[in-house]
Amino acid sequence: MTTLLEFHAFLLSNTGTRLERFARAMAAVIRPGDVVLDLGAGSGILSILACRAGARRVYAVEQSDSVTLAEHLLAGTPERDRIDIIHAPSFDITLPEAADVIVADVHSIFGLQERGLSAMLDARARLLKAGGQVLPARIELHVAPAEAPDVYMTKVDHWRGATHGVSLEPVRTLAVNNVHSARLTPPQLLAAPVAICSVDILRASGLHLGGRVQMEVARAGTLHGLCGGMVTTLADRVEISNLPGDASSNFAHAFLPLDTPVPVAAGDALDIQIDAYDGDEMRWQVAVTSAASGATRRFAHSTFLSRVFSRDELRKRDPAYTPTLTPQGRLERDLLQRIDGGTTRAALEEWLMAEGGGALTRERLAELLVTTLARCG
Ligand SMILES: C[S@@+](CC[C@H](N)C(=O)[O-])C[C@H]1O[C@@H](n2cnc3c(N)ncnc32)[C@H](O)[C@@H]1O
Repeated sequence: MTTLLEFHAFLLSNTGTRLERFARAMAAVIRPGDVVLDLGAGSGILSILACRAGARRVYAVEQSDSVTLAEHLLAGTPERDRIDIIHAPSFDITLPEAADVIVADVHSIFGLQERGLSAMLDARARLLKAGGQVLPARIELHVAPAEAPDVYMTKVDHWRGATHGVSLEPVRTLAVNNVHSARLTPPQLLAAPVAICSVDILRASGLHLGGRVQMEVARAGTLHGLCGGMVTTLADRVEISNLPGDASSNFAHAFLPLDTPVPVAAGDALDIQIDAYDGDEMRWQVAVTSAASGATRRFAHSTFLSRVFSRDELRKRDPAYTPTLTPQGRLERDLLQRIDGGTTRAALEEWLMAEGGGALTRERLAELLVTTLARCG
């Protein structure tokens, strides 16, 4: 709960002008009497702002336990009776009426959160009226070459060291293929950020977001990686950005490292390609060509290479894998079969404790009951 509290304390009080801009955008888009879907409602703050913008009803959909915060914060507000809080992933819900407007802040530091784009497209297709509006309307990814020795040291080259005689080097590959969160300043950029790709949420049809830019280094320095950020158009002429130096929000940016820092001079050419898939995987390819020598250094990185897969996980992805139930799996199956709409929780618990004692501890049985009941209506 502490992490959720810290996260929402940040979102509610320390994200620059984010909430003012959302309020302004909603005032421009929401018409009196509209139905609004707040996708990823969190603390419920955007639901309140949607009501104030004129919404007749807001469906505040949140998958995480932060709905508890929403329940507490909304209780007693004049807007409470116009807001329905729904604790579920948006993919799993239907609404009693289609929404006129979808509002969502499911941004990450460089685009949308994992499955954020698919959530928006799914909600647009199933839960929005024809001709409805989506807020944000458009998200543009920007990149800039970055000189960031401290960030590079902390996030990447830390793994060149050793601890108690154990070399950390084997793990460096994971770090150099990761998208890191960082706070960079404009003087750390070796050229101004440029837009590399964008997504128009009302029209997008796929989950791949990619683009390529060619640019020149503006000043001499060492290229450690790319700074990634975004400019989001919430509604007409209402934007929010996390690019270095932009005061509209207080979000960190992304740092996409290169395997080897490259000394660069003004006029050196950069060819940058970014490919992102639904906030889940990202690939960055960078070619640096020296203006003086014409020599090119090429780098290709992917978050896929930063993933840690256990042998067991990989084995289960093999199409030839033939699953067999573990003792826990058999218990879960038998428990599910007892859930018939007439058996009480107490009776299920009693059965589970009697049957499962040989396979699992009482604590694990209690956990199994909770996870199984989470699937029940
Ligand atoms: C950045 S927070 C924003 C919270 C709040 N709307 C605000 O603006 O302060 C994003 C929230 O979206 C939720 N979320 C992301 N995808 C979701 C989905 N598909 N369905 C429901 N909630 C989702 C996350 O759990 C998280 O609480």
